[in-house]
Amino acid sequence: MPHPQDILEAFHFRHACKVFDPARKIPAKVFDCILETGRLSPASFGFEPWRFAVIQDPILREKLKTVTWGAQGQLPTASHFVAILARRSADMRHDSPWLLDLMRNVQHFDTDRIAQRLARYRSFQEHDFHLAENPRAMFDWACRQCYIALGNMMTAAALIGVDSCAIEGFDQTEAEQVLSEANLLEDGRFGLAVMVAFGYRIKPQTPKVRQAMADIVRWV
Ligand SMILES: Cc1cc2nc3c(=O)[nH]c(=O)nc-3n(C[C@H](O)[C@H](O)[C@H](O)COP(=O)(O)O)c2cc1C
Repeated sequence: MPHPQDILEAFHFRHACKVFDPARKIPAKVFDCILETGRLSPASFGFEPWRFAVIQDPILREKLKTVTWGAQGQLPTASHFVAILARRSADMRHDSPWLLDLMRNVQHFDTDRIAQRLARYRSFQEHDFHLAENPRAMFDWACRQCYIALGNMMTAAALIGVDSCAIEGFDQTEAEQVLSEANLLEDGRFGLAVMVAFGYRIKPQTPKVRQAMADIVRWV
């Protein structure tokens, strides 16, 4: 087991890296490990509404750069650049064929268990979280699951000495247009949740600033 101090060291090491050393590439095995932590991430109901598009094509990166103000330094220099895509409401609705296929063929649930889960999920969507009536709310909910994978991948990267930066600084409509033209959105079944760049720093990191523990925690 890692020591708590090792975990905290990784959290201090991780920072929003603005520019990477373009000459240093993450070894394939190391990057596979980072991706695997995304794949193994938990999601509400276990529905894994994500897809990880690893964008290495310099032409596609250049196109994305024109609509991504937040990654001007990262897009040209990152060893690996990932767009985390989220499934839209057509797949996430309680009555979608994709969901049924996931429960049958990935989760290996039997018919009774599927019926129970779908009834619970329907009630969750319609009553608990009010997602069903609003495709945007449904997409945002799927995006929230993607952010769990995002956090895990960045933490895993930090633990093995890889730098990263989450990227939300993009025009969503225009960035989705670029990804759609690259055939990554499957005719609108996916939307763009968030992006993340990985590589190795070339400059020292800036000091970490955070609110004090006493200001953000309440014990009752
Ligand atoms: C979801 C998310 C989106 C972000 N988007 C960008 C971005 O587009 N460009 C950028 O340079 N930094 C981006 N950041 C980095 C944050 O500004 C940074 O994490 C925050 O200021 C804290 O600094 P630290 O990560 O160095 O500790 C993003 C961070 C998160 C978590």
